[in-house]
Amino acid sequence: ADVVLLRSQLLSWYDQEKRELPWRTLAGDTLDRSPCNLLVFFVVYFSVWVSEIMLQQTQVATVKDYYNRWMKKWPRVQDLAAATLEEVNQMWAGLGYYSRGKRLHEGAQKVVTELKGQMPQTAEELLKQLPGVGRYTAAAVGSIALGQVTGAVDGNVIRVLCRLRAIGADSTSPAVTEALWNLANSLVDRERPGDFNQAMMELGARVCTPKGSLCSQCPVQSHCRSYRKVGTSSEVDLNSG
Ligand code: ADE
Repeated sequence: ADVVLLRSQLLSWYDQEKRELPWRTLAGDTLDRSPCNLLVFFVVYFSVWVSEIMLQQTQVATVKDYYNRWMKKWPRVQDLAAATLEEVNQMWAGLGYYSRGKRLHEGAQKVVTELKGQMPQTAEELLKQLPGVGRYTAAAVGSIALGQVTGAVDGNVIRVLCRLRAIGADSTSPAVTEALWNLANSLVDRERPGDFNQAMMELGARVCTPKGSLCSQCPVQSHCRSYRKVGTSSEVDLNSG
């Protein structure tokens, strides 16, 4: 019952407070994935993939403009596949970590040639088939674009989960990493996995931040073990936990 409440509180907060980001315009739990909407679905799927690759090592504010230019130039996976690496590098210029753009381009070509235009159907296939797509990105794209019920654990989400459960252990150790993925999988909303995961990221970016936590604004404060430990002051420094 506790987890059901946590999901609904987090999602209500997200519905009210989420930033309008270009890759969120069409994606989300309202996305029609039926055969008659296949074209729109593919465009959304491709755009979520592009956005998650750009967001891997770059902040939301920087990604926005790059993403908009990119999607205008290459709205479909076929358009990107037909581009040259030179064009790709030009469009990526300034975003950093250039191998991300190169792998995205390779992935688009793989989808068009080897996979015959078929994007992977699950997070597992995404991880296996697309270069540059690791465990987190596969889970993020799988949940946001495909509606797959899986948690997605990135740096922000690690911090949120560690505070939520007052996990003090080294969050980079393999055992803790597995525990965090298991926790994320058990928490994720069954109907709205993509929105739930983005809500967790949003919470980490704006409320449960690295510098400290704005607990008074937190929608899941009542579920948070770190908050309970530290006390009831409205703004507490949770850096130690
Ligand atoms: N960071 C990674 N993916 C994100 C997303 N979909 N929204 C906001 N921040 C993100």
